[in-house]
Amino acid sequence: MGKRSFRALWLMAFAAFALVAMGACTSMEKTKEQSTAAKLPVIEGATYVGSEACADCHEDVVNDFKHTIHGKLAGFELKANMAQGGACEACHGPASKHIDEEDPEYIINPANLSPQQQSAICLKCHTDGEVMDWRGSEHALNDVSCLNCHDPHGKKDAEAYRDKLGYKHKHVKDTQLKKPEPELCFTCHKDIMAKTNYPNHHPIKEGKMTCSECHNPHGSTVEPLLRTDERKNELCFECHADKQGPFAFEHAPVEEDCTICHDPHGSVADNLLKQNEPYLCIQCHGLHFHSAIQPNTDWLKQNGAKGPLATMPNGHSMQKIMTSRCTECHPSIHGSDLPSLSAPGGGSRLTR
Ligand code: HEC
Ligand code: HEC
Ligand code: HEC
Ligand code: HEC
Ligand code: HEC
Ligand code: HEC
Ligand code: HEC
Ligand code: HEC
Ligand code: HEC
Ligand code: HEC
Repeated sequence: MGKRSFRALWLMAFAAFALVAMGACTSMEKTKEQSTAAKLPVIEGATYVGSEACADCHEDVVNDFKHTIHGKLAGFELKANMAQGGACEACHGPASKHIDEEDPEYIINPANLSPQQQSAICLKCHTDGEVMDWRGSEHALNDVSCLNCHDPHGKKDAEAYRDKLGYKHKHVKDTQLKKPEPELCFTCHKDIMAKTNYPNHHPIKEGKMTCSECHNPHGSTVEPLLRTDERKNELCFECHADKQGPFAFEHAPVEEDCTICHDPHGSVADNLLKQNEPYLCIQCHGLHFHSAIQPNTDWLKQNGAKGPLATMPNGHSMQKIMTSRCTECHPSIHGSDLPSLSAPGGGSRLTR
């Protein structure tokens, strides 16, 4: 289903919701199913009165809310057609008793509910798209609720968010976030924040990229909350297509998982590498000498070498191996295609 038709469907769902009393709505089967997971409190004897009534005593909230997507979709213009239980009561439950008594006891205040109940309010309607995998997500399982990140009434945060980024971003919409990214995520993920300050990092703190471009904070079938339905590498290929191949000569760890060598959040080494060369490489490979280049015996001796290593003809290989990067001679570290003229083995050994 296209994004547009999905939106249209939602729009209809919301309109239906706004117009018909909660219990009588026929398209609410999912609602019942979802709300049984975390039961919401019931205000005995209360009925729906419509959002119009709220403005008398909660003018500020009403004014903020009018500008949100929820407010706009509900046709929130304080019209009479809201009289059967409109937008406010979609989250707060029927309000007649609250208004009669002017007593906060008789209205649902989500701030006083458990994280699971808070999310259940939103999940009455949001079960699809971005939020589809919420229930099994690390956030849901660790008592994070929708309200940790979203501001239900909207206080112009969305505009601040857009201004900050200054361009039309793939995922930036009027999503009523409590804080813009990445600050939102940093309130809880301090370790990741530290990494984004390392000399090498994806341009997140520069505002050119968001955490949620790589993660879906609502859940994913690929851990940890990655924004892809496929392998982790597929996420990287979305922006680094040149690393996808297919290559005539592949490098096994590259095929397996980019994060074997790269830390996506930041690194002290260049190129987001978890370690500098040659240490990165010698986790898996031995150091090698090349027939064309003899070891630097002086250097080896200074570094404690004995026996044959100390008596070989003098050269520069060992020093070169330890002080230069392996990728100076193996530049096609992600895989190579071109037949190489300069190295034995054609295009193999990732040398061209
Ligand atoms: C006649 C006045 C009046 C009307 C109308 C009214 N409220 Fe209230 N409401 C109050 C008062 C008084 C409080 C408690 C003090 C406060 O928080 O401002 C309150 C508090 C609340 C709270 C917080 C409850 C808590 O636990 O602190 C919510 C939520 C709320 N109202 C929702 C609504 C909604 C939704 C409507 C419209 C359907 C509505 N109110 C209409 C007077 C009213
Ligand atoms: C999308 C769900 C949702 C809708 C729709 C909604 N609210 Fe709320 N409301 C909440 C939540 C959640 C809280 C708890 C406080 C918080 O996290 O900001 C809250 C808190 C409140 C409070 C008490 C705290 C405060 O901010 O003063 C009042 C009063 C209130 N809402 C009134 C309203 C009115 C009036 C409307 C309609 C114009 C409305 N709400 C629409 C979810 C909603
Ligand atoms: C009565 C049904 C209903 C409830 C309850 C509800 N929403 Fe919505 N919400 C909608 C509809 C319909 C839309 C607009 C369609 C869309 O974009 O998904 C929407 C839009 C949104 C958007 C903006 C999406 C966008 O496209 O930019 C956010 C964010 C959101 N809701 C969060 C919440 C949160 C958080 C809660 C709980 C506090 C909540 N909603 C409760 C129906 C609801
Ligand atoms: C950890 C923070 C976080 C939590 C928790 C969270 N959200 Fe979001 N939500 C975001 C961010 C960031 C965006 C904007 C980026 C994006 O589009 O995913 C967003 C976007 C959305 C959107 C718009 C999606 C679209 O179509 O682009 C909806 C709807 C939404 N959230 C609903 C919810 C609901 C419902 C819950 C609880 C079940 C929830 N969110 C919990 C951070 C969060
Ligand atoms: C209210 C606190 C809070 C906020 C805000 C928050 N998170 Fe989380 N997040 C958690 C908790 C708690 C966990 C589960 C424990 C853990 O892994 O740290 C978690 C887990 C995760 C995981 C999965 C970690 C794993 O090992 O599986 C990712 C990815 C993640 N969060 C990304 C984000 C992003 C992106 C944002 C901002 C859009 C965000 N979080 C905002 C609290 C938060
Ligand atoms: C370029 C894509 C990308 C961006 C941007 C990104 N992440 Fe991640 N994140 C990943 C990948 C991939 C993993 C899995 C790493 C692994 O398996 O070693 C991950 C893992 C995580 C984890 C799990 C724990 C850990 O340390 O591995 C958390 C929490 C997390 N990211 C939060 C965030 C936050 C917060 C932001 C924004 C500041 C962010 N990520 C930005 C790709 C990204
Ligand atoms: C949404 C797009 C996007 C995704 C997804 C993405 N990247 Fe990037 N990546 C970028 C951008 C933008 C840069 C910065 C380019 C620049 O500064 O010229 C970058 C730079 C890099 C760099 C070079 C850093 C440097 O110091 O120059 C590496 C390595 C990298 N990404 C690895 C990854 C890996 C691994 C993944 C998957 C986990 C990934 N990227 C996913 C957009 C992305
Ligand atoms: C075996 C370790 C290793 C693996 C696995 C790996 N890389 Fe790299 N990557 C490197 C090294 C080393 C460099 C620095 C290359 C240089 O300096 O010539 C680099 C540089 C990069 C750069 C920045 C420079 C450039 O060539 O654009 C990007 C982007 C990048 N890698 C993406 C990826 C992606 C995407 C994957 C997964 C498909 C991946 N890498 C897997 C070792 C690795
Ligand atoms: C001075 C250039 C140079 C440097 C520096 C270099 N290599 Fe090589 N390497 C080569 C050449 C040329 C070959 C092909 C030799 C052959 O096929 O006999 C090769 C072959 C290899 C092979 C395949 C070996 C085999 O037995 O098939 C591996 C693995 C390798 N290098 C890893 C590394 C690592 C790891 C480093 C860094 C510690 C490194 N190389 C540094 C030039 C270099
Ligand atoms: C996680 C382990 C791992 C890391 C880290 C790693 N490699 Fe490899 N590399 C392999 C495996 C596995 C192969 C394929 C098996 C083989 O042919 O020996 C391979 C093959 C190679 C080859 C030989 C290709 C051929 O044609 O025979 C070269 C050259 C090479 N790696 C260089 C590097 C360099 C340079 C680095 C560091 C930037 C590096 N590797 C990091 C595991 C690794």
